[in-house]
Amino acid sequence: MKRIALMTSGGDAPGMNACVRAIVKTALHYDIIPVGIYDGFQGMIEKRGFEMTYQDVDNIIYRGGTILGTARSAEFRTLEGRKKAIEYLQELKIDGLIVVGGDGTFSGATELGHEMNIPIIGIPGTIDNDIFGTDHTIGFDTALNTVVEAIDKIRDTASSHHRVFFIEVMGRDAGFIALYAALASGAESVLIPEELTNIESLVQEIRTHNTGRRSSIVIVAEGDDGGGAKEILDKVKPFLPEFDLRHSVLGHIQRGGNPSALDRIIATRMGSYAVELLMKGESNVMVGVYGENLNTCSIDQGIKEHASPELSKLELLKKLRTQ
Ligand code: F6P
Repeated sequence: MKRIALMTSGGDAPGMNACVRAIVKTALHYDIIPVGIYDGFQGMIEKRGFEMTYQDVDNIIYRGGTILGTARSAEFRTLEGRKKAIEYLQELKIDGLIVVGGDGTFSGATELGHEMNIPIIGIPGTIDNDIFGTDHTIGFDTALNTVVEAIDKIRDTASSHHRVFFIEVMGRDAGFIALYAALASGAESVLIPEELTNIESLVQEIRTHNTGRRSSIVIVAEGDDGGGAKEILDKVKPFLPEFDLRHSVLGHIQRGGNPSALDRIIATRMGSYAVELLMKGESNVMVGVYGENLNTCSIDQGIKEHASPELSKLELLKKLRTQ
């Protein structure tokens, strides 16, 4: 293993920089040349790689986003696009590739692996936490904290004005951010894709927990089957004429900001481990963190076995809501 390429891809996630730093420093420590590729697979097609040094990763551990940039590349999904990427990796004499991203990134990397004989290690980096094979994906903890901070602020105004707020959070088709944020913020209701939404019971819930209090927080996962926060508000409105309802979509604020200590730590551990796995001759595996330990599963499994939050957390929320 003399030269490894690394890239971040898909939606950026806080902690990706900490991971890039760990990959680069570990590689240099073992006398391997790390080659960073800008803007994910698109940058690979456009031949935008560069040899990285210690200076490139100085003071980036605390920064959100990714210094390597990221993209969702349509061209890479074509055979023609992938051919260009493969030619470039061959030109750079790359012996192994580390990709940091979500399931879209892993699917792209797997295809590349099939078409080119190169060892690939995946590191789960997405705020959605929807990757099988790991307790945490890089970025989830920071996004969760951002969401909880925003909800705390909205609760101040909700309770002052006696309003019911529907707050939409990200997560694509998984309810991790919504459910964990609901628990951490003491939200009264949460709607997640993993459970069918019943508007009648939601109306009932809002009535029940507003007896004498008249303010509450309903967190809506963007992928919920009942729709986003605005749609849910419109659906319940005719049944709750006595309530003052508002909605708020938190949006991309959830993807930015300095990574939390937990995200920095898991990103650092995963990044360094990925280099060592390549050195051991491993390929097509994804790094995961289980409790205190680092582990691996096949990238294929990481993609196919979609992760879902444990529904016992939802039961707990319901228990706490009982008046
Ligand atoms: O996968 C991360 C994520 O932030 C999802 O939660 C969200 O659905 C999506 O990316 C938004 O993507 P974009 O930034 O391309 O609009």
